[in-house]
Amino acid sequence: MDRLKLDVNGSFDPAAGGLERGDLTALAAAARAAFEEFEARRRSGEVGFADLPADRGAAEASVQLAKELGSRFENLLVLGIGGSSLGGRAIVSALAHPFHNLLPRERRGAMRIFFPDNSDPATFEALLGTLDLAETCFATVTKSGGTAETMSQHLALRERCIARFGEEGYRERCVLVTDPAKGALREIARAERLRALAVPANVGGRFSALSAVGLLPAAAAGLDVGELLAGAAAMEARCRTGDVLANPALLLAATLCLMDRRRGRRIHVLMPYADALRDTGDWFVQLWAESLGKRPDVGPTPFRAVGATDQHSSMQLMMEGPQDKLVMLVRVVSPRADVALSVPAGYRAYPEIAYLDRHTMGELIEAERRATDAALRKAGRPTLSIELPRIDARALGELLMLFELATAYAGGLYGVNAFDQPGVEAGKRYAQGLLGRPGYEKYRDELAGAAKPDPALVLG
Ligand code: PA5
Repeated sequence: MDRLKLDVNGSFDPAAGGLERGDLTALAAAARAAFEEFEARRRSGEVGFADLPADRGAAEASVQLAKELGSRFENLLVLGIGGSSLGGRAIVSALAHPFHNLLPRERRGAMRIFFPDNSDPATFEALLGTLDLAETCFATVTKSGGTAETMSQHLALRERCIARFGEEGYRERCVLVTDPAKGALREIARAERLRALAVPANVGGRFSALSAVGLLPAAAAGLDVGELLAGAAAMEARCRTGDVLANPALLLAATLCLMDRRRGRRIHVLMPYADALRDTGDWFVQLWAESLGKRPDVGPTPFRAVGATDQHSSMQLMMEGPQDKLVMLVRVVSPRADVALSVPAGYRAYPEIAYLDRHTMGELIEAERRATDAALRKAGRPTLSIELPRIDARALGELLMLFELATAYAGGLYGVNAFDQPGVEAGKRYAQGLLGRPGYEKYRDELAGAAKPDPALVLG
């Protein structure tokens, strides 16, 4: 069938030091319990991401707003960080033309989309200096409604828009994506009469790719939001069972958890053989790390690689370094395009080039994926394989939902709450103390009173 395929044989390969089927049998009851626990949280309304594909009303609101913005503006800046940026960026970079923003308007047929993400002033200023503000609108995306990095970008753009186009010009250019009821941004939406889309209260940042957070930029880039959601819905439907051998996301979670716990393979590498999925790798890293890194003894480390690029980089480490990695290879069966190769007569004397004759670049990258899988396994390093029929909206929807559900189940298997992130708060409190937020003085004072550095350990 023309759908995503998960193949974990590479993780159960005895030659690769893989798991045994008995390991999976022994985990089956715990996997079922993790599934049931997630379903109960879903039914109670506590966790909502798996229900996003069915929310066609929300999708329609994103498409409508994107249409309105696209009819007036050339550029959309998506201001957000973490889950409020990575999902949208993963979708747009996977599905749009690889050089979408460079295409002329008539070939692009949609807005140019930028994700400044970090609040690095050098990047932000350079981006604003490159775009014509008259042609630019922005979506401020923050679920909590007050994230410092995102709000710093919002403040800068708001001020420039008002200075140049007045209050009305700012209102035309700014839309918000935030919690339906809570947070500073929701209040600002009311006070400033700005158009705002809602991220459902029970959908957290890193699980929000299929809400307005990802759908608004996707629709603004001219992508097929309906198919994206249809793919996600199809995966969600495949995952409605607690049987680990029938639910792909549960099998993925169980395999990764067993690899960590039984084989010490705590580094989980996602390695798509397609540039289009590079940002999906970054999205996975955040999803897996922020959801599961919750105790000193729990937290597989995610890592993003890209085939074939990383065969000339981190593959050496994966092939011969510490036995602590599990490599997930992603195959795309039908690439969007292919390039035929022909070796001219003058090059045929070189054996290292001649064999490429009458092959294609697609054949080369696929041969490299197969070869890497075989070589890793021969070197005693297990793998697993995810196969997409092609990179299109439907397949990407399946892939995103596969990993989101796998993360939720993995939380259950590891015994941690995959849906909170208390660990990132400490750093935020210190930063706010340093910047003088009232009520945060004690954090500033704590930093001021910290042990003085040993000058012998500072060179400069
Ligand atoms: O997954 C998460 O919850 C975080 O990574 C958030 O997405 C990130 O901190 C940004 O938060 P917010 O959307 O509230 O600005």
